[in-house]
Amino acid sequence: MAGITDSTFLNKVIPYGFDVATLGGYSLDAPTIEASNKIIQRGRKEFHFPLDEIFSHIEKEVASIKSMHKDVKVSANVRSTTPQPIIEVGKINGLDIVEINCHCRQEEIIAIGCGQEMLKRDDLGNFISKIVNNVDCEVSVKIRANVDGVNTLDIAKIIEDAGADYLHIDAMKKGVFDADYNLLKSVCDCSDIKVIGNNSVNSSENVKKMINTGVYGFSIARAVISGNLDFNIANF
Ligand SMILES: Cc1cc2nc3c(=O)[nH]c(=O)nc-3n(C[C@H](O)[C@H](O)[C@H](O)COP(=O)(O)O)c2cc1C
Repeated sequence: MAGITDSTFLNKVIPYGFDVATLGGYSLDAPTIEASNKIIQRGRKEFHFPLDEIFSHIEKEVASIKSMHKDVKVSANVRSTTPQPIIEVGKINGLDIVEINCHCRQEEIIAIGCGQEMLKRDDLGNFISKIVNNVDCEVSVKIRANVDGVNTLDIAKIIEDAGADYLHIDAMKKGVFDADYNLLKSVCDCSDIKVIGNNSVNSSENVKKMINTGVYGFSIARAVISGNLDFNIANF
């Protein structure tokens, strides 16, 4: 979560049972950094680092988590208009997963063709495979489900064919205050990629519903900030 999930935050919550911790999202190139700046100016939290600091900053954040939690995989969620800066993050010492953000719906990010707008790119598969083929760490692609004009099942196939290791799906559905479990099940049924289900994991009941879709794993965002988890993640 932009502006929130830094190493200090993650080091505090990892002991609740997480085996992957995601830093960021970070903006990595001039257009996304400028978009972040605009988002901050209208009062929303963002991580905001200049181009000459962002890569060394992420490296320090990864080292801080690894120094306290050796067995936890560290992921960095990143936005960029081109693959090269993401490849650079994928080479950071100690980083286990680089996560391409095809999920953000902030208007400043969408306006530059980034975040969920990436799902409409004709060259999405090439963009992802360039990264997959040039980093040593694993690659995750985080998407938002049910984006207007985008078929989530088609996108899942493109991401799998591009060679990504994980498909991280925010299974949001407009007007519904729960995850789109049916969609997650459909994606899991028709693909072999490791699917990480996300959205509304805030109770043991919802963890069970998420697991029943066939996902490889699940992620939790807002319920971690609120401290409202009524379950121990390590039990699932
Ligand atoms: C304040 C805030 C900031 C977020 N920033 C990011 C981000 O930078 N990158 C990203 O992929 N998702 C981001 N998200 C989305 C969450 O990671 C997650 O997909 C979404 O909140 C749904 O999951 P949840 O129901 O567990 O919260 C953010 C969410 C919130 C509430």
